[in-house]
Amino acid sequence: MNSTKTWSGRFNEPVSELVKKYTGSIEFDKRLAQWDIQGSLAHAQMLQQAGVLSEEDLAAIRRGMAEISEEIEAGRLQWSLDLEDVHMNIEHRLTGKIGDAGKRLHTGRSRNDQVATDIRLWLRDQISVIQSLIQNLQTALLDLAEQHAETVMPGFTHLQVAQPVSFGHHMLAYVEMLLPRLRAHGRLPEARQPYALGRGRVGGYDLPDPARNHGTELLGFEEICQNSLDAVSDRDFAVEFTAAASLVMIHLSRLSEELILWMSPRFGFIDIADRFCTGSSIMPQKKNPDVPELVRGKSGRVIGHLIGLITLMKSQPLAYNKDNQEDKEPLFDTADTLIDTLRIYADMMRGVTVKPENMRNAVMQGFATATDLADYLVKKGMPFRDSHEVVARAVRRADEAGVDLSALPLQVLQEFSSLIADDVYEVLTPEGSLRARNHLGGTAPEQVRFQTARWRKLLDGTQKAV
Ligand code: ARG
Repeated sequence: MNSTKTWSGRFNEPVSELVKKYTGSIEFDKRLAQWDIQGSLAHAQMLQQAGVLSEEDLAAIRRGMAEISEEIEAGRLQWSLDLEDVHMNIEHRLTGKIGDAGKRLHTGRSRNDQVATDIRLWLRDQISVIQSLIQNLQTALLDLAEQHAETVMPGFTHLQVAQPVSFGHHMLAYVEMLLPRLRAHGRLPEARQPYALGRGRVGGYDLPDPARNHGTELLGFEEICQNSLDAVSDRDFAVEFTAAASLVMIHLSRLSEELILWMSPRFGFIDIADRFCTGSSIMPQKKNPDVPELVRGKSGRVIGHLIGLITLMKSQPLAYNKDNQEDKEPLFDTADTLIDTLRIYADMMRGVTVKPENMRNAVMQGFATATDLADYLVKKGMPFRDSHEVVARAVRRADEAGVDLSALPLQVLQEFSSLIADDVYEVLTPEGSLRARNHLGGTAPEQVRFQTARWRKLLDGTQKAV
């Protein structure tokens, strides 16, 4: 068995079975196969340009790799733990097919280059998928925002009723959180940063620069790595990506928490379509919001991967260390979890039914327009601190009477301030309160429509650009 190891020449005894299992990565890195082939093809072209491979060698490698690629797609390639990882499995198969040309392919590169390149290529493809899924979710949120530009709900702080906002405005907050460029989503492209293979091995290899530049171009990287040690040992892009993914998951965990609260009968603000919920095996009346609960739970899992990856890099001496093999499973799972979550989330948001009456009732129970009354008094010339005091007393009176501020008769309100006149009732209704917040970033229906239109244009632009 030991003889199949490409490095076995130096060793006196075969590696133990336990060690083979412990150190092998084929079980999980075989999923990089197509990207490994892509990297190898670019490397082969580079070698040919540098005069290391002949035209015939290159043609043989291309033919061999095309066959291997098909075998993998068809599930016909036998992966072997004796060959440790995806790189050696593919190279071994290639050499079996085309002989010496296959053996020449590894000139000027190490597996450490290969793996660093493969993950970058793989990640770049995942990021493209994730970006369009984020845009799809944003579109679902925008649809809700548009439909509910006038639907009043309580805005909360400390989970206590604060001021009326519209449900549309609330949805737009999440659209912003997923904003490309500035927020979580914007950090994703950083993980696409330019790196190239071929700075190979610890000291570099003397491939001429034109050939190396050509390889960089072939793989669609923007620029070449400027330091061979950094090229093979850097995993910042993986950490950056996982950090970005964690932020997206955290944002979704917050929305999930809200959906769960809103769906509980205590709130009764929304309903989630049955296909996203499950029942209880014991209590027949139950309808549980399993999907948002699981998203909340899975956010912990992705954050765990971030901590795992960043800890993996801590104190590693340059350059590559076997520790780095541990980067793949958390990275794969991060992308898988995020992709699945985004997919289901957009669908689920399209299955949300809003219950405007219950939302409005909640606004009416929380003295949500108290700040509007204070603002009203300020407009009539009272200093804000004084108006705050006046309104607090009025709220206490309404509370004692068990009614909303808007239900207090004018004479009662005037006991608190003579500045209060008939027009006060316009600001005391939730709808009046919404209308009054007609400024950039405010909750007025006009503003919500403006933001929705702005976002649609923005997403249209990005979708074309992708
Ligand atoms: N399977 C390894 C990894 O995932 C590939 C690189 C191995 N390099 C080495 N010198 N053992 O990191």
